Amino acid sequence: MKHSILVTGGAGFMGSHLVDQLIREGHDVTVVDNLSGGSLSNVNRNAHFIRGDLQDAKVCRKAVSGVDMVYHLAAHAAEGQSIFCPVYNAKSNYIGFLQLIEAAINSGVKMFVHTSSMSVYGRQEKMPMREEQHYNPKDPYAVGKAAIEQILPIYHDVFGLNYSILIPHNVYGERQNLQDPYRNAIAIFMNRVAAGKPPIIFGDGTQTRAFTYVRDCTPYIAKAGFAREAFGERINIGSEEVVTLNEVARIVLEEMARTDLKPIYAPPRPSEVKHSYCSSEKARRILDYKTTTPLKVGIHNMAEWVKKQGPQKFRYWKNLEITKKAPEVWTKRMQ
Ligand SMILES: NC(=O)c1ccc[n+]([C@@H]2O[C@H](COP(=O)([O-])OP(=O)(O)OC[C@H]3O[C@@H](n4cnc5c(N)ncnc54)[C@H](O)[C@@H]3O)[C@@H](O)[C@H]2O)c1
Repeated sequence: MKHSILVTGGAGFMGSHLVDQLIREGHDVTVVDNLSGGSLSNVNRNAHFIRGDLQDAKVCRKAVSGVDMVYHLAAHAAEGQSIFCPVYNAKSNYIGFLQLIEAAINSGVKMFVHTSSMSVYGRQEKMPMREEQHYNPKDPYAVGKAAIEQILPIYHDVFGLNYSILIPHNVYGERQNLQDPYRNAIAIFMNRVAAGKPPIIFGDGTQTRAFTYVRDCTPYIAKAGFAREAFGERINIGSEEVVTLNEVARIVLEEMARTDLKPIYAPPRPSEVKHSYCSSEKARRILDYKTTTPLKVGIHNMAEWVKKQGPQKFRYWKNLEITKKAPEVWTKRMQ
Protein backbone atom coordinates (compact mmCIF):
# COMPACT_ATOMS: atom_id res chain seq x y z
CA MET A 1 0.00 0.00 0.00
CA LYS A 2 1.28 3.44 -0.96
CA HIS A 3 1.82 5.85 1.94
CA SER A 4 2.40 9.56 2.14
CA ILE A 5 5.56 9.87 4.19
CA LEU A 6 7.53 12.73 5.69
CA VAL A 7 11.27 12.24 6.25
CA THR A 8 12.80 14.95 8.41
CA GLY A 9 16.51 15.39 7.78
CA GLY A 10 16.05 13.75 4.37
CA ALA A 11 18.82 15.89 2.83
CA GLY A 12 21.29 14.42 5.32
CA PHE A 13 23.37 11.28 5.22
CA MET A 14 21.09 8.55 6.59
CA GLY A 15 17.87 10.42 5.76
CA SER A 16 18.71 10.60 2.04
CA HIS A 17 19.40 6.84 1.84
CA LEU A 18 16.11 6.23 3.65
CA VAL A 19 14.24 8.49 1.21
CA ASP A 20 15.69 6.57 -1.75
CA GLN A 21 14.53 3.31 -0.18
CA LEU A 22 10.98 4.57 0.52
CA ILE A 23 10.68 5.95 -3.02
CA ARG A 24 11.92 2.63 -4.46
CA GLU A 25 9.14 0.98 -2.43
CA GLY A 26 6.60 3.24 -4.20
CA HIS A 27 5.73 5.72 -1.46
CA ASP A 28 5.06 9.43 -1.87
CA VAL A 29 7.85 11.14 0.09
CA THR A 30 8.26 14.68 1.40
CA VAL A 31 11.55 15.84 2.86
CA VAL A 32 11.95 18.68 5.32
CA ASP A 33 15.47 19.85 6.09
CA ASN A 34 17.13 23.14 7.04
CA LEU A 35 20.30 22.14 5.15
CA SER A 36 22.45 22.91 8.21
CA GLY A 37 24.18 19.56 7.82
CA GLY A 38 22.63 18.09 4.69
CA SER A 39 22.77 19.04 1.06
CA LEU A 40 20.20 19.53 -1.67
CA SER A 41 22.25 17.27 -3.94
CA ASN A 42 21.43 14.34 -1.60
CA VAL A 43 17.67 14.77 -2.04
CA ASN A 44 15.98 12.28 -4.35
CA ARG A 45 14.51 14.08 -7.39
CA ASN A 46 11.19 12.32 -6.87
CA ALA A 47 10.74 13.63 -3.33
CA HIS A 48 8.94 16.88 -2.49
CA PHE A 49 11.40 19.15 -0.73
CA ILE A 50 10.64 21.75 1.95
CA ARG A 51 13.55 23.83 3.14
CA GLY A 52 12.89 24.82 6.72
CA ASP A 53 13.72 24.39 10.37
CA LEU A 54 11.60 22.17 12.62
CA GLN A 55 11.71 24.86 15.31
CA ASP A 56 9.30 26.80 13.08
CA ALA A 57 5.70 25.69 13.76
CA LYS A 58 4.59 26.80 10.26
CA VAL A 59 7.26 24.61 8.62
CA CYS A 60 6.12 21.62 10.69
CA ARG A 61 2.45 22.18 9.85
CA LYS A 62 3.24 22.35 6.14
CA ALA A 63 5.53 19.32 6.31
CA VAL A 64 2.99 16.99 7.97
CA SER A 65 0.04 18.12 5.86
CA GLY A 66 -1.55 15.06 4.19
CA VAL A 67 1.09 12.75 5.61
CA ASP A 68 0.28 9.49 7.42
CA MET A 69 3.80 8.45 8.49
CA VAL A 70 6.81 10.40 9.75
CA TYR A 71 10.42 9.22 9.88
CA HIS A 72 12.25 11.67 12.13
CA LEU A 73 15.96 11.92 11.38
CA ALA A 74 16.59 15.67 11.53
CA ALA A 75 19.01 16.55 14.31
CA HIS A 76 22.18 18.45 14.97
CA ALA A 77 23.90 15.17 15.65
CA ALA A 78 27.40 16.27 16.69
CA GLU A 79 27.37 14.48 20.02
CA GLY A 80 30.82 15.46 21.31
CA GLN A 81 30.28 19.07 20.28
CA SER A 82 26.96 19.28 22.16
CA ILE A 83 28.82 19.76 25.47
CA PHE A 84 30.04 23.05 23.98
CA CYS A 85 26.78 24.17 22.33
CA PRO A 86 24.01 22.92 24.65
CA VAL A 87 21.51 25.67 23.83
CA TYR A 88 21.77 25.30 20.06
CA ASN A 89 21.58 21.53 20.41
CA ALA A 90 18.48 21.61 22.63
CA LYS A 91 16.67 24.09 20.38
CA SER A 92 17.46 22.26 17.19
CA ASN A 93 16.83 18.74 18.44
CA TYR A 94 14.44 18.84 21.37
CA ILE A 95 12.35 21.93 20.59
CA GLY A 96 12.41 20.93 16.91
CA PHE A 97 11.04 17.51 17.86
CA LEU A 98 8.30 19.00 20.08
CA GLN A 99 7.15 21.32 17.27
CA LEU A 100 7.06 18.34 14.93
CA ILE A 101 5.15 16.05 17.27
CA GLU A 102 2.64 18.81 18.00
CA ALA A 103 1.98 19.22 14.28
CA ALA A 104 1.91 15.44 13.76
CA ILE A 105 -0.70 14.90 16.48
CA ASN A 106 -2.84 17.80 15.27
CA SER A 107 -2.82 16.62 11.67
CA GLY A 108 -3.58 12.97 12.47
CA VAL A 109 -0.27 11.26 11.61
CA LYS A 110 -0.60 7.53 12.32
CA MET A 111 2.98 6.34 12.66
CA PHE A 112 6.14 8.05 13.94
CA VAL A 113 9.54 6.38 13.50
CA HIS A 114 12.24 8.05 15.54
CA THR A 115 15.99 7.63 15.12
CA SER A 116 17.48 7.80 18.56
CA SER A 117 21.11 7.10 19.41
CA MET A 118 23.26 4.66 21.33
CA SER A 119 24.45 7.70 23.28
CA VAL A 120 21.32 7.37 25.48
CA TYR A 121 23.03 4.40 27.19
CA GLY A 122 26.17 6.44 27.88
CA ARG A 123 28.61 4.62 30.14
CA GLN A 124 27.49 1.08 31.03
CA GLU A 125 29.02 -1.78 33.01
CA LYS A 126 27.49 -4.46 30.82
CA MET A 127 28.49 -4.77 27.15
CA PRO A 128 27.17 -5.12 24.53
CA MET A 129 24.40 -2.70 25.42
CA ARG A 130 20.84 -3.98 25.24
CA GLU A 131 17.53 -2.18 25.02
CA GLU A 132 16.55 -2.96 28.62
CA GLN A 133 19.63 -1.22 30.07
CA HIS A 134 19.06 2.11 31.82
CA TYR A 135 19.60 5.56 30.38
CA ASN A 136 22.94 7.07 31.39
CA PRO A 137 23.53 9.91 28.90
CA LYS A 138 26.83 11.75 29.13
CA ASP A 139 26.21 14.88 27.04
CA PRO A 140 23.36 17.25 26.11
CA TYR A 141 22.75 15.56 22.73
CA ALA A 142 22.23 12.22 24.47
CA VAL A 143 20.01 13.77 27.16
CA GLY A 144 17.83 15.24 24.38
CA LYS A 145 17.59 11.90 22.58
CA ALA A 146 16.64 10.17 25.85
CA ALA A 147 13.98 12.84 26.50
CA ILE A 148 12.44 12.30 23.07
CA GLU A 149 12.36 8.54 23.66
CA GLN A 150 10.35 9.17 26.81
CA ILE A 151 7.88 11.58 25.21
CA LEU A 152 6.76 9.15 22.50
CA PRO A 153 5.08 6.58 24.81
CA ILE A 154 3.20 9.45 26.48
CA TYR A 155 1.76 10.58 23.14
CA HIS A 156 0.97 6.99 22.28
CA ASP A 157 -0.99 6.56 25.52
CA VAL A 158 -2.85 9.87 25.22
CA PHE A 159 -3.45 10.13 21.46
CA GLY A 160 -2.87 6.59 20.16
CA LEU A 161 0.11 7.63 18.02
CA ASN A 162 2.03 4.53 16.93
CA TYR A 163 5.77 4.83 17.19
CA SER A 164 8.94 2.88 16.84
CA ILE A 165 12.37 3.93 18.11
CA LEU A 166 15.46 2.83 16.23
CA ILE A 167 18.84 3.11 17.92
CA PRO A 168 21.56 3.08 15.28
CA HIS A 169 25.22 3.50 16.09
CA ASN A 170 28.31 4.80 14.35
CA VAL A 171 26.91 4.75 10.84
CA TYR A 172 29.30 5.54 7.99
CA GLY A 173 29.24 5.50 4.20
CA GLU A 174 28.67 7.48 1.04
CA ARG A 175 27.06 10.96 1.41
CA GLN A 176 28.40 11.54 4.90
CA ASN A 177 29.16 15.22 5.35
CA LEU A 178 32.93 15.44 4.84
CA GLN A 179 33.01 19.10 5.89
CA ASP A 180 31.90 18.29 9.44
CA PRO A 181 34.90 18.34 11.80
CA TYR A 182 32.84 17.47 14.90
CA ARG A 183 31.44 14.01 14.23
CA ASN A 184 31.85 10.70 12.40
CA ALA A 185 35.40 9.47 13.00
CA ILE A 186 35.64 7.53 9.74
CA ALA A 187 34.58 10.50 7.59
CA ILE A 188 36.95 12.86 9.43
CA PHE A 189 39.86 10.40 9.13
CA MET A 190 39.17 9.92 5.41
CA ASN A 191 38.83 13.59 4.64
CA ARG A 192 42.17 14.35 6.28
CA VAL A 193 43.85 11.43 4.53
CA ALA A 194 42.37 12.59 1.19
CA ALA A 195 44.17 15.90 1.85
CA GLY A 196 47.41 14.00 2.51
CA LYS A 197 47.24 14.47 6.30
CA PRO A 198 47.27 11.80 9.04
CA PRO A 199 44.10 10.97 10.99
CA ILE A 200 43.86 12.64 14.41
CA ILE A 201 42.71 10.34 17.21
CA PHE A 202 41.40 11.77 20.51
CA GLY A 203 42.88 9.74 23.39
CA ASP A 204 45.03 6.64 22.89
CA GLY A 205 42.80 5.03 20.25
CA THR A 206 41.87 2.03 22.40
CA GLN A 207 38.24 3.19 22.57
CA THR A 208 35.95 0.50 21.14
CA ARG A 209 32.99 0.93 18.82
CA ALA A 210 31.11 -1.07 16.17
CA PHE A 211 30.70 0.81 12.89
CA THR A 212 27.64 0.25 10.72
CA TYR A 213 27.62 0.63 6.95
CA VAL A 214 24.71 2.87 5.94
CA ARG A 215 23.20 0.34 3.52
CA ASP A 216 23.01 -2.15 6.41
CA CYS A 217 21.03 0.36 8.46
CA THR A 218 18.49 2.48 6.58
CA PRO A 219 16.49 -0.43 5.05
CA TYR A 220 15.65 -1.54 8.59
CA ILE A 221 14.70 1.97 9.66
CA ALA A 222 12.29 1.91 6.69
CA LYS A 223 10.98 -1.50 7.74
CA ALA A 224 10.31 -0.40 11.33
CA GLY A 225 7.46 1.83 10.13
CA PHE A 226 5.57 -1.15 8.73
CA ALA A 227 6.45 -4.08 11.02
CA ARG A 228 3.72 -4.30 13.68
CA GLU A 229 6.10 -6.14 16.04
CA ALA A 230 8.29 -3.01 16.03
CA PHE A 231 5.47 -0.70 17.17
CA GLY A 232 6.03 0.68 20.67
CA GLU A 233 9.53 -0.83 20.76
CA ARG A 234 13.08 0.52 21.10
CA ILE A 235 15.42 -1.41 18.84
CA ASN A 236 19.21 -1.25 18.58
CA ILE A 237 20.35 -1.52 15.02
CA GLY A 238 23.87 -1.91 13.78
CA SER A 239 27.03 -3.88 13.40
CA GLU A 240 28.40 -6.03 16.19
CA GLU A 241 31.94 -6.06 14.76
CA VAL A 242 33.78 -4.40 17.66
CA VAL A 243 37.00 -2.55 16.81
CA THR A 244 39.33 -0.01 18.39
CA LEU A 245 39.72 3.43 16.82
CA ASN A 246 43.37 2.50 16.16
CA GLU A 247 42.19 -0.42 14.00
CA VAL A 248 39.71 1.80 12.18
CA ALA A 249 42.44 4.34 11.40
CA ARG A 250 44.64 1.52 10.09
CA ILE A 251 41.88 0.24 7.76
CA VAL A 252 41.14 3.77 6.54
CA LEU A 253 44.83 4.32 5.71
CA GLU A 254 44.94 0.97 3.87
CA GLU A 255 41.77 1.60 1.86
CA MET A 256 42.81 5.17 1.04
CA ALA A 257 46.17 3.69 -0.08
CA ARG A 258 48.14 5.93 2.31
CA THR A 259 49.82 3.49 4.70
CA ASP A 260 52.80 5.87 4.69
CA LEU A 261 50.76 8.17 7.03
CA LYS A 262 50.64 7.43 10.79
CA PRO A 263 47.81 8.62 13.08
CA ILE A 264 48.55 11.46 15.48
CA TYR A 265 47.09 11.59 18.98
CA ALA A 266 45.28 14.49 20.71
CA PRO A 267 44.13 14.65 24.38
CA PRO A 268 40.89 12.71 25.08
CA ARG A 269 37.63 14.55 24.43
CA PRO A 270 35.74 15.58 27.59
CA SER A 271 33.08 13.05 28.60
CA GLU A 272 33.77 10.66 25.71
CA VAL A 273 32.55 7.15 26.54
CA LYS A 274 35.41 4.65 26.20
CA HIS A 275 33.55 1.47 25.24
CA SER A 276 30.29 1.66 23.38
CA TYR A 277 28.63 -0.96 21.20
CA CYS A 278 25.25 -2.66 21.13
CA SER A 279 23.61 -6.00 20.72
CA SER A 280 21.35 -6.18 17.65
CA GLU A 281 19.71 -9.41 18.80
CA LYS A 282 16.29 -7.76 19.15
CA ALA A 283 16.57 -6.28 15.63
CA ARG A 284 17.38 -9.74 14.27
CA ARG A 285 14.28 -11.11 15.96
CA ILE A 286 11.85 -8.31 15.09
CA LEU A 287 13.16 -6.88 11.82
CA ASP A 288 15.09 -9.86 10.47
CA TYR A 289 18.16 -7.66 10.75
CA LYS A 290 21.41 -8.77 9.08
CA THR A 291 24.77 -7.06 8.84
CA THR A 292 26.07 -7.99 5.45
CA THR A 293 28.98 -5.57 4.99
CA PRO A 294 32.26 -6.24 6.82
CA LEU A 295 33.97 -3.06 8.04
CA LYS A 296 36.83 -3.38 5.58
CA VAL A 297 34.40 -3.65 2.63
CA GLY A 298 32.26 -0.71 3.80
CA ILE A 299 35.34 1.45 4.32
CA HIS A 300 36.61 0.43 0.89
CA ASN A 301 33.31 1.51 -0.72
CA MET A 302 33.31 4.79 1.17
CA ALA A 303 36.97 5.44 0.35
CA GLU A 304 36.21 5.11 -3.39
CA TRP A 305 33.47 7.73 -2.96
CA VAL A 306 35.67 10.05 -0.87
CA LYS A 307 38.44 9.88 -3.50
CA LYS A 308 35.90 11.04 -6.11
CA GLN A 309 34.75 13.93 -3.88
CA GLY A 310 38.32 15.06 -3.19
CA PRO A 311 39.35 16.65 0.13
CA GLN A 312 36.85 19.12 1.61
CA LYS A 313 37.55 22.08 3.85
CA PHE A 314 36.29 21.44 7.39
CA ARG A 315 33.63 23.98 8.38
CA TYR A 316 34.11 25.03 12.00
CA TRP A 317 31.63 27.10 13.98
CA LYS A 318 32.62 30.74 14.38
CA ASN A 319 31.73 30.60 18.07
CA LEU A 320 31.11 27.62 20.31
CA GLU A 321 28.79 28.56 23.20
CA ILE A 322 31.41 27.28 25.65
CA THR A 323 35.09 27.28 24.75
CA LYS A 324 36.52 26.16 28.11
CA LYS A 325 37.99 22.65 27.73
CA ALA A 326 37.04 22.53 24.04
CA PRO A 327 39.49 20.33 22.09
CA GLU A 328 42.35 22.36 20.61
CA VAL A 329 41.77 20.65 17.28
CA TRP A 330 38.49 22.60 17.18
CA THR A 331 39.57 25.92 18.71
CA LYS A 332 42.60 26.02 16.40
CA ARG A 333 40.33 24.96 13.50
CA MET A 334 42.73 22.35 12.27
CA GLN A 335 42.22 21.34 8.66
N1 LIG B 1 25.22 8.81 11.77
C1 LIG B 1 25.22 8.12 12.89
O1 LIG B 1 26.18 7.42 13.20
C2 LIG B 1 24.03 8.14 13.82
C3 LIG B 1 24.02 7.27 14.90
C4 LIG B 1 22.92 7.31 15.75
C5 LIG B 1 21.87 8.15 15.51
N2 LIG B 1 21.91 8.98 14.45
C6 LIG B 1 20.76 9.86 14.24
O2 LIG B 1 20.29 9.65 12.91
C7 LIG B 1 19.79 10.88 12.38
C8 LIG B 1 20.48 11.18 11.05
O3 LIG B 1 21.87 11.31 11.26
P1 LIG B 1 22.88 11.60 10.08
O4 LIG B 1 24.16 10.98 10.46
O5 LIG B 1 22.25 11.26 8.79
O6 LIG B 1 23.06 13.18 10.22
P2 LIG B 1 23.00 14.34 9.12
O7 LIG B 1 23.54 15.56 9.78
O8 LIG B 1 23.64 13.90 7.87
O9 LIG B 1 21.46 14.51 8.89
C9 LIG B 1 20.63 15.29 9.72
C10 LIG B 1 19.87 16.25 8.83
O10 LIG B 1 18.98 17.01 9.65
C11 LIG B 1 19.00 18.38 9.20
N3 LIG B 1 18.60 19.18 10.37
C12 LIG B 1 19.29 19.34 11.53
N4 LIG B 1 18.58 20.08 12.40
C13 LIG B 1 17.43 20.42 11.76
C14 LIG B 1 16.29 21.17 12.15
N5 LIG B 1 16.18 21.72 13.39
N6 LIG B 1 15.30 21.32 11.26
C15 LIG B 1 15.38 20.77 10.01
N7 LIG B 1 16.43 20.03 9.60
C16 LIG B 1 17.44 19.85 10.47
C17 LIG B 1 20.41 18.60 8.71
O11 LIG B 1 20.51 19.63 7.75
C18 LIG B 1 20.77 17.24 8.11
O12 LIG B 1 20.48 17.19 6.73
C19 LIG B 1 20.03 11.93 13.45
O13 LIG B 1 18.84 12.07 14.20
C20 LIG B 1 21.10 11.34 14.32
O14 LIG B 1 21.04 11.82 15.63
C21 LIG B 1 22.97 9.00 13.59
